[in-house]
Amino acid sequence: MNLATKFRNTHPHAFFLDPEKPNALKDYLSYQEWIDSETDITSIENAGEDTMNKVVRVHLTNGKSYIIKQSRPWVEKYPDIPAPAERGNIEGAYFQEAGANDTIASFSPELLNADPDAHILMLEDLGEGTDLTYLYKKENSMDENVLAALMDYLSALHQNFTQATCDFYIENRGMRKLNAEHIFRFPFVDDNGLNLDDITPGLADLRDKYRTDKELMEQVAFLQYRYLQNGETLLQGDYYPGSFIHTADGIKVIDPEFCFFGDAEFDLGVFYAHLLMAQQPKEIIDSISDHYKKPPTFSDMLYQQYAGIEIMRRILGLAQLPLPLHLDEKEALLEQAYAMLLEE
Ligand SMILES: Nc1ncnc2c1ncn2[C@@H]1O[C@H](COP(=O)(O)OP(=O)(O)OP(=O)(O)O)[C@@H](O)[C@H]1O
Ligand SMILES: [Mg+2]
Repeated sequence: MNLATKFRNTHPHAFFLDPEKPNALKDYLSYQEWIDSETDITSIENAGEDTMNKVVRVHLTNGKSYIIKQSRPWVEKYPDIPAPAERGNIEGAYFQEAGANDTIASFSPELLNADPDAHILMLEDLGEGTDLTYLYKKENSMDENVLAALMDYLSALHQNFTQATCDFYIENRGMRKLNAEHIFRFPFVDDNGLNLDDITPGLADLRDKYRTDKELMEQVAFLQYRYLQNGETLLQGDYYPGSFIHTADGIKVIDPEFCFFGDAEFDLGVFYAHLLMAQQPKEIIDSISDHYKKPPTFSDMLYQQYAGIEIMRRILGLAQLPLPLHLDEKEALLEQAYAMLLEE
């Protein structure tokens, strides 16, 4: 079954975004009154690889361009794997609500339009910026100004959007369940379909060492429980280099599809974990605490624990990163993560 037909089965009346069909997209955009009827599409390109969603950039005859993002009831790269289509609407709600804060707005694409029935967002095109995943290459380090900007964003989010002060709520239960499987379960199951030794010979033995560690598994279960609890603070939910892009107008933060009200420590822990995996200079890593403004109840221990589990899941789980690391380097990171997870 092709994807358009598959989509129609669950969404009989909603528009299916197909970059091969510019005329249909033009009709859709003008029917929605997102563009005027005289404007035509000159070209459409994929804005990124098809991973979670369908994301395209449309160029128009009036010289403008926009990003159109559709979330379908599956993972775009693996259409057999279901995923909550609502995630696009939730991402829209995040941009809408968090964008009311000037700091967050200055780091975000503007949300121009949304079609909740089709789970489509129309976003400001920030240009063809590169994301920050180049940091995983050994020679690259994060500029302190960039780190400061990313901490300004996170501080503004965590300080200004708490359950006590917000008149909206984002639970994102479906995406959280999906992410929880990836973070807390798949890295530690006997066979998750991924042969770790194909990635780095010897890695499967390391996984076995950790998955049979009872104390560690209890700690992982505790963190999974915490992650799935509703918490106090609005999180971006996926605060790692793939969600940051360099643009002509500075660094921007995109893709909040995993957002929810939870532990502030989770966002910061994920960020910290990625700087460690990207082997960033100590001064850069140490400067996190100079720039991030901790909420009053922030727990350094929970922060370390979330960072630890993020390292383990990225090295042992399915959502692998382009880490140019040898076995001994991965082992050192896993040991560090283990200590972060279990030391008091
Ligand atoms: N507003 C924007 N302006 C410019 N480029 C964008 C914008 N939004 C997304 N992109 C580009 O499209 C890519 C995919 O977008 P996004 O990360 O939102 O989609 P995704 O399907 O959720 O990706 P992933 O599965 O990696 O999380 C980004 O990496 C970026 O290159
Ligand atoms: Mg995404």
